[in-house]
Amino acid sequence: MSHIFLSKKLASAKRSPSERKGIHTWHPYYAGYSEAFVTSAIEYLAINKSHILLDPWHGSGTTALVASRYKLRTIGCEINPVMNIFSTAKSGFLIGQGKLIEKLSQEIEDRVLDSLSEDRDDDCLLDFMSESLSRGIRTLYLALNSYSYPQTPLDTRLFKHLEKIPSFFNPFEAFFKSALFITARKLAGYKGGSNPTWVKTLENKAEYCIEDIVAEWLRVVDCMIDDLHSAVIPTLDNIIHLPISMDSRKLCIHSNSIDGIITSPPYLTRIDYAMSTRPELLIINNSSFLRSIREKTIGAPVIFDKTIKVNPIWGVNCLTVLKQVETHSSKAAQSYYLPNMLQYFRDVELSLRECIRVLKPKSQALIVVQSSYFKEHEINLGQIYTEICRNLNTQCEIVNREIVRGHMAHVNTKSSLYKNAKVYYEDVVCITK
Ligand SMILES: C[S@@+](CC[C@H](N)C(=O)[O-])C[C@H]1O[C@@H](n2cnc3c(N)ncnc32)[C@H](O)[C@@H]1O
Repeated sequence: MSHIFLSKKLASAKRSPSERKGIHTWHPYYAGYSEAFVTSAIEYLAINKSHILLDPWHGSGTTALVASRYKLRTIGCEINPVMNIFSTAKSGFLIGQGKLIEKLSQEIEDRVLDSLSEDRDDDCLLDFMSESLSRGIRTLYLALNSYSYPQTPLDTRLFKHLEKIPSFFNPFEAFFKSALFITARKLAGYKGGSNPTWVKTLENKAEYCIEDIVAEWLRVVDCMIDDLHSAVIPTLDNIIHLPISMDSRKLCIHSNSIDGIITSPPYLTRIDYAMSTRPELLIINNSSFLRSIREKTIGAPVIFDKTIKVNPIWGVNCLTVLKQVETHSSKAAQSYYLPNMLQYFRDVELSLRECIRVLKPKSQALIVVQSSYFKEHEINLGQIYTEICRNLNTQCEIVNREIVRGHMAHVNTKSSLYKNAKVYYEDVVCITK
């Protein structure tokens, strides 16, 4: 175990109760870190207005939200388009645009009421909602796709760092689509279970006419306008925060171009990020699209590649854990856990290589990770990330450590067998290129 340099400068990554209100309720994201942590991380890295900040695992967009308060430019890469839609909808550009948003939503309402989509017996949304609701949601989604939104001015300095111009969402479109996702969950009556990644379906699916669906969507739009105003984001006259659909294992960003990274990857807790947005991914597209996003999501509890071999570059700590799994007596250790972990560490290695490649020399990355357990064996993820980065020829230390309560590993009921007396850590790993 290497020395841990405890830093006074970094705030806790755990969200406070106030971060479960307003814009945070749009898509309650159990995996998000705190705004206070991002604020302290920005200071720690001394990011200023001439810099570009990157979050390669952008999630709900906490990094960009906080950065936009200081008018700092961010690129956020995220594999799940649902998360990109929600984070684009929080753009400071939309602050002060309440009247325009209302006008556009009324125009969209008029179009929708004239054009109901056809019924589809094979619609994958029928797993989650009634025929009339899925038909109304599809109609509204199509209208949002075909509407011509006002152009939004983008800070072109953001593009300079990208190898090609990516597709990204117009903030108005993202705002209305986020409202549609919220409406769909509300009307379908989804309930959160003990495991937030599984969306529970209801036995009795309520029927709605299109007028009711649109009226609810307009109510959600109104509430979201209020939420944006209370989110303490300054009004921005151009877009300085670019959430893009990009895989952290292959960043289309120029080498040596990024001034700092603040991020948090998926942990080794079998949290199924893609499945937690299953209804939304099915609204955007269909079951094969959902599968393709799940396949690219690091840490998904499914095995897509059984050919991966242990790589010594992952370090002693990681190799010890993998040996413990390989030789464990439990039934699924070799057939499921080992290939799943090999997949995870291969993906983490590829992503860390990319983070290091795109950072400018001497620039730093702050990465929040949590430890977990395989049965009785601790998986000290902070230490493993540190060893991988050192083996990739960078300086790397754990600069902050906290003990975590209410760990996500406990949503998996089988692991509760081992849960007593376990200590979980949330570490902040600092890489210096
Ligand atoms: C711990 S969450 C990040 C939460 C974020 N810090 C926030 O406050 O909302 C990790 C994110 O990584 C994303 N992710 C997983 N695999 C990815 C990949 N290959 N490329 C980019 N993003 C990925 C997941 O979809 C998830 O949103």
